[in-house]
Amino acid sequence: MREAPIGVFDSGVGGLSVLAEIQRLLPDESLLYVADCGNIPYGEKTPEFIRHRCSVMAGFFQQQGAKALVLACNTATVAGVADLRRDYPEWPIVGMEPAVKPAAAATRSGVVGVLATTGTLQSAKFAALLDRFAADVRVLTQPCPGLVELIENGDLHSPALRQLLARYVEPLLGAGCDTIILGCTHYPFLKPLLKQMIPEDISLIDTGAAVARQLQRLLAERELLAEGPARAAQFWTSSDPEHFRNILPILWNTAGVVQSFKG
Ligand code: DGL
Repeated sequence: MREAPIGVFDSGVGGLSVLAEIQRLLPDESLLYVADCGNIPYGEKTPEFIRHRCSVMAGFFQQQGAKALVLACNTATVAGVADLRRDYPEWPIVGMEPAVKPAAAATRSGVVGVLATTGTLQSAKFAALLDRFAADVRVLTQPCPGLVELIENGDLHSPALRQLLARYVEPLLGAGCDTIILGCTHYPFLKPLLKQMIPEDISLIDTGAAVARQLQRLLAERELLAEGPARAAQFWTSSDPEHFRNILPILWNTAGVVQSFKG
């Protein structure tokens, strides 16, 4: 069981930013990754639809014999993690949500910005997160339609992307934010561009590394940490495998075998 793989999924390539953190912290683990590119963007879908996709993904990873599941997607987590934990009570399941708590602790100006999908920002889970951790700070939320689609095409710095990003980030800076939460797993890929666009003293916070640490804790508690060596990561996409294959070397450290996901 220790050597069983870990299943990781997202609506697309965004979760690769989380997969990289998992691989960095847990290099002995074998990783399986599904990109549900045929249904992207989750951010504009209903919670019911996303819950259904979460359950399809969980069923697939169960069949693959995965010892743990990671929802490398904020939007899928707010919609679906509670149902998955109910349906698979024995399975270590790690979800993710925007880093409101660390951002509220870090801000000096008392103003925090959140870049995330419409689905995440509209969810009850996000509202609860604000109530719980952000009572003493001002939180400005910014949905970012269009960003995910550009990143899915491997675009991390075109003029069109820069223009769209500026439209989302400038109002936050204008309102005095000194801390910006990257609340969608696609956005960490934009950090190099964002750093060129914002003053040096603005912090960008995402939760990929924290997810990897939480996964490590859950596996250690259950004596499920692999001893290695890891098998090469395997990838599936519910859209065009050729497209995913071409994009993989841009967003992941190496080329990889990509299969078609039918589910
Ligand atoms: N990567 C996903 C997230 O973390 C969402 C992207 C989408 O809208 O599909 O929220």
